[in-house]
Amino acid sequence: MKPVSPFLELESTPRVDVSVDGEMFSLPAGANLAAALLASGIETFRATPVSGAPRGPFCMMGACFDCLVEIDGATRQACMVEVEDGLAITRPRLDEALT
Ligand code: FES
Repeated sequence: MKPVSPFLELESTPRVDVSVDGEMFSLPAGANLAAALLASGIETFRATPVSGAPRGPFCMMGACFDCLVEIDGATRQACMVEVEDGLAITRPRLDEALT
């Protein structure tokens, strides 16, 4: 039987600590970062530079760039990154979009 959500498979993986905009999260080691963040309840990853519209993962295969985040100061596609201990993630332009 298929699980309700494929993200639920992440529940049984050992956890590591990462920060997202300064808030600590415990995410499954080696998991796809975009999937792990979505499973943690983070749906908005960035805001567009022109309109400030919120964006989140769409394709999950590196094509749409809607999952861009900054990791340790470098802009990366979250769907192309594996969760590692100590990642420092910030969400570009998000504070501007929400104000
Ligand atoms: S979700 Fe489309 S590039 Fe990451």
